[in-house]
Amino acid sequence: PFKQRLLVVANRLPVSAIRKGEDSWSLEISAGGLVSALLVLYKGVKALEARWIGWAGVNVPDEIGQKALTKALAEKRCIPVFLDEEIVHQYYNGYCNNILWPLFHYLGLPQEDRLATTRSFQSQFEAYQKANQMFADVVNKHYEEGDVVWCHDYHLMFLPQCLKNYNRKMKVGWFLHTPFPSSEIHRTLPSRSELLHAVLEADLVGACTRILGLEGTPEGVENQGKLTRVAAFPIGIDSERFIRALDLPQVKGHIKELQERFKGRKVMLGVDRLDMIKGIPQKILAFEKFLEENPDWRDKVVLLQIAVPTRTDVPEYQKLTSQVHEIVGRINGRFGTLTTVPIHHLDRSLDFHALCALYAVTDVALVTSLRDGMNLVSYEFVACQDKKKGVLILSEFAGAAQSLGAGAILVNPWNITEVAAAIAKALNMQSEEREKRHKHNFKHVTTHTAQEWAETFVSELNDTVVEAQLRT
Ligand code: UDP
Ligand code: G6P
Repeated sequence: PFKQRLLVVANRLPVSAIRKGEDSWSLEISAGGLVSALLVLYKGVKALEARWIGWAGVNVPDEIGQKALTKALAEKRCIPVFLDEEIVHQYYNGYCNNILWPLFHYLGLPQEDRLATTRSFQSQFEAYQKANQMFADVVNKHYEEGDVVWCHDYHLMFLPQCLKNYNRKMKVGWFLHTPFPSSEIHRTLPSRSELLHAVLEADLVGACTRILGLEGTPEGVENQGKLTRVAAFPIGIDSERFIRALDLPQVKGHIKELQERFKGRKVMLGVDRLDMIKGIPQKILAFEKFLEENPDWRDKVVLLQIAVPTRTDVPEYQKLTSQVHEIVGRINGRFGTLTTVPIHHLDRSLDFHALCALYAVTDVALVTSLRDGMNLVSYEFVACQDKKKGVLILSEFAGAAQSLGAGAILVNPWNITEVAAAIAKALNMQSEEREKRHKHNFKHVTTHTAQEWAETFVSELNDTVVEAQLRT
């Protein structure tokens, strides 16, 4: 059967490399929703033959190292883009994560950073363009006629333009995994129009929810006489993978351990990259308020917060880490006893099986994103809860609120009184209501999968190109 060749281009490769010696590397799965969703391309989507082009998360200055890493990655069908330290600093830490990321999530910068950023803006923007060109060079080298090239996320907004400059016939799609800010916010960005025009060089532009502050027709947006198709493609998870995992002996073992460890207490869970968009301080303060107001619950509930380290060279993320540690320490000091603490905070990632076990034993999951493209953690929790039928407390500012809103308790994460009340409601909820809510969400999560999302995007991209050819 025909397999469509697909080149996935994302800043982050699905595996990150750790150097073990001059020419030896070990690879581990990268964190984050983009990687999780696209992992389905390896097994779940049979009509596609995917290769992945991106950055392996390390600086490899020497040729021996580059060669060895290229070889190790090839086994995973990955092709590296080598970015040196200076580019990573200006493009990834700077322009992507200190400017675009907060802006796209409606988060302001502190005044002092804003001024510093304004000054370094131009050089960071140039590094961003340069990095995008480096990705394009690698794509162009591996491109074969007929390939579909699928570019991802805010790191690569220039890529569609760079690729079309190489070859107008290349089929290029671009997908944004974050929210796109309203035009009032977007227009504060000095490079606002260059970025948008570069993205609109793609044949198909997609995002999780609404996109682009641009006026358009139902079919798309007109950009200098050329129509670019723009549409929403809600992302999902590989729900089967989670459901299957719950039957594995090692996951069952984990589950049993956790159940024994937290016997007699209800388990609340947060799983987030340690990012300001996740509202982790707000979540913990709401939990504190709940403990304050409900003394009877103090020795009957525990909050497990998995905070996966991320973008640790960006000062804002370092500040957030200390802020969270301080709040957790204060609350544990206040409500802890000699033998227990109310909050277990982990600054590390978990492997897939441990994560599934945690999801499965949880009574209440807390997702308090201040803004989030979709939030796949909420989907993963639901997928693992078919036995327990726990409750999801979900921020109305996460994309998932559109799809899981009917089953979850929706909250405004900025309102800690409301979140504290939601915690009480969730912990006290009767099984009948829990079941009803879970059923709604489980159905959604198992029928709107990552496989479908990827297939729909790629086939829509193919169709768009055919239609455009018919028009001319
Ligand atoms: N995740 C991970 N390592 C962990 C814990 C979680 O890679 O230790 C995964 C999690 O399973 C989920 C993703 O990270 O698939 C987070 O995706 P989400 O959409 O919730 O947020 P993002 O990190 O993309 O902002
Ligand atoms: C979000 C972004 C992804 C990114 C991920 C992890 O999900 O949308 O593009 O890969 O966070 O962040 P990192 O900077 O480590 O790639």
